[in-house]
Amino acid sequence: MRAGYLQFKPEFGEPEKNIAKIGSLLSDKDFDLIVMPELANSGYLFSSNEELEKFSEEIPGGKFCSFLKSISKAKEGLIVSGICERDNGNFYNSSVLVEPNGDVHAYRKVQLFYEEKLWFKPGKEGLKVYEIQNAGFQKVKIGMMICFDWIFPEVTRTLALKGANIICHPANLVMPYCQDAMVTRAVENRVFTITANRTGKDVKKNKELYFTGMSEIVDPKGNILQRGSKDKDEAVIIDIDPSEASDKNINPMNNLFTDRREDIYFK
Ligand code: ACM
Repeated sequence: MRAGYLQFKPEFGEPEKNIAKIGSLLSDKDFDLIVMPELANSGYLFSSNEELEKFSEEIPGGKFCSFLKSISKAKEGLIVSGICERDNGNFYNSSVLVEPNGDVHAYRKVQLFYEEKLWFKPGKEGLKVYEIQNAGFQKVKIGMMICFDWIFPEVTRTLALKGANIICHPANLVMPYCQDAMVTRAVENRVFTITANRTGKDVKKNKELYFTGMSEIVDPKGNILQRGSKDKDEAVIIDIDPSEASDKNINPMNNLFTDRREDIYFK
């Protein structure tokens, strides 16, 4: 399966420019699955509900989602992207999994980071895994989480227990820990992880946030198959075999799932 990430700098409040940028970065790429950053349509640093109203959209009918559907169809590949979602007067930091047949599955970020709590509602719909069979690759099970979800190991664990082979992870990372931590998330669950982080900064009145790039693909044994630059636009696609994530045996006597001791863990 040809899978990878698109790393770039979404321009705040410029959905049209972001669509054009993604279109040009993917124009010469072929993929079965590509993951894009968190809030890829809108940018990150919100400071008012008016901004949210203007730069969010409904799923699946909005412009950004329609654009993703058109690329997914043209490339015959799956797309996972962060998206600023509006639904019934509420805003969500969401991601979508778009299939070439036009199906769209959405996830709303569960663990909101810092001032995101001022703007977004946390997702209540839970963590789902989607089984997908496409012409270009074998059956694959895909889970989604967004950025800060990484620091709660329960999120990746839940997705892995639900059968995910690949955890797609749109991100706008500002702390320095995640890229190294994802090696552990991958190895403790024996899954592939694809973190698509953004680059650059968002600037508002007296606030600046810098994002750390270094998007990453990690395999179920914790090997970093790819790590991106800190600051460049990059679309990186490699060959992976998602079925490697189905084997949860660490050695002949240890199995990651059946050795779990739920009887002694804190509930
Ligand atoms: C983050 O969750 N965007 C830091």
